[in-house]
Amino acid sequence: MLWFPVDRTLPTSLTVQVYEQMRIRILRKELHEGERLPSSRELASQIGVSRNVVLEAYERLLAEGYLEVRPQSGTYVAAGSFLRSSEPERTDAPVSPARSPVVGEDGIDFRAAHPATDYFPRAVWARIAREVCLDTPERAFGYASAEGTPELRGVLARYLLQARGVRCHPEQIVVTSGATQALHLITELLSEGKQARIAVEDPVTDEMRTIFTYAGASLQPIPVDDKGILPEKLDEFAAPDFIFVIPSHQFPLGGTLPIQRRIQLIEYARRTGCCIVEDDYDSEFTYEGVPVHSVQGLDPERVIYVGTFSKILSPALRIGYTVLPARYVETYRRLKWFADRHTSTLEQLILARFMEQGYFDRHIRRMRKIYRKRREALVTSLRRHLPEAQILGESAGMHLVVELPDQRFTERTMRRIHEAGVQVYAVEHYALLKGKHEHQIVMGYGGLTADAIQEGVVRLAKALRGAAHQG
Ligand SMILES: Cc1ncc(COP(=O)(O)O)c(C=O)c1O
Repeated sequence: MLWFPVDRTLPTSLTVQVYEQMRIRILRKELHEGERLPSSRELASQIGVSRNVVLEAYERLLAEGYLEVRPQSGTYVAAGSFLRSSEPERTDAPVSPARSPVVGEDGIDFRAAHPATDYFPRAVWARIAREVCLDTPERAFGYASAEGTPELRGVLARYLLQARGVRCHPEQIVVTSGATQALHLITELLSEGKQARIAVEDPVTDEMRTIFTYAGASLQPIPVDDKGILPEKLDEFAAPDFIFVIPSHQFPLGGTLPIQRRIQLIEYARRTGCCIVEDDYDSEFTYEGVPVHSVQGLDPERVIYVGTFSKILSPALRIGYTVLPARYVETYRRLKWFADRHTSTLEQLILARFMEQGYFDRHIRRMRKIYRKRREALVTSLRRHLPEAQILGESAGMHLVVELPDQRFTERTMRRIHEAGVQVYAVEHYALLKGKHEHQIVMGYGGLTADAIQEGVVRLAKALRGAAHQG
């Protein structure tokens, strides 16, 4: 069966995506000369697009000679359309974050780290935006300094100390376009023009991994268990430039790093002279116990702390921040300036007022309740429809991991689940060293209503039972 993902979040049209995916497969001989293609109707239903999209893609491939139509028989891959590669195949190609597949119109996507955008505080935001626009001095509408507005950095420093135990002066904060840019700039900062060596948790978020590999860094995978990274596995003899960790809610496995391991990490960093980069992207949403304070608070001189408003408020804001030891601040500001001069001043001013006036804390409290309910809906549905499932990492954040000891989430199984109109994510996809997480999937619930969650689990269970029957 022919199957490939399409991504509705990309600016590229679905027709062009289908055309490109097929063209590449023909050129690489994954679709062989003389091979009969599925009908447009079949392919459309397999990949979750309308038939017209496939028809248009087929027409273009026909016009360019990749395909031929045999009357009364079907559409075939034309002869002579395979191009031998002039370079050896790369097997370690970084995973593009844009590759995440999307299910069709009525599909249910358990995408991790997607916040409940239906609860964005639109009315308050709009009111503050209006106020900022009308009463902000004219100079705010010109170019600003790279590190961000003093208003936002000031309120952020106070918030971080109180909520996350982050110890810093506002001057140590640089506002960035999300954690994505923050991590890209950190890689530049710490690699100092040479190839960076980065120790990363394995498995690790593919987006962050891609940022590092695109910057040319080499990665040292460090295994993770249900509590997070295992610091004793760090290499004593080949220290990295930095260790990238998500200690408050590891992605994807969801562990919260115990204090003993946090101390071990810091001791390692001190011994070997490397930095720790702490990504604290969703720790505000802790449902059991109180949120554990940051690693940064334990050693502000060794740790670069990265945060974002993408999960608490919305990824559309594109506002994140980096808290740096003083020695790095000037260079980091320069790197930020070269990247995009500065993040939108107006958005920063709105956000600063939103925080200053108490709406931020209120929003977090409200969202915590909503995510807790969504989490309960998912856990309850899993217990009912997949009672054999073990659930990991559900104490915080907006995703959890489901482990089914008798089920391997192979590409075939994932396709079957996708065909059932539900999208879940194999932990194996996030692993650098393959073969250790084949029984686990990630399910994000932040962006789904309780009804959608229930329906999604029903579809998942049905797809898995179907797969078991087929062997
Ligand atoms: C681990 C992790 N950190 C941070 C982010 C947030 O990135 P950004 O702030 O650029 O939206 C993500 C996005 O999904 C993530 O998975």
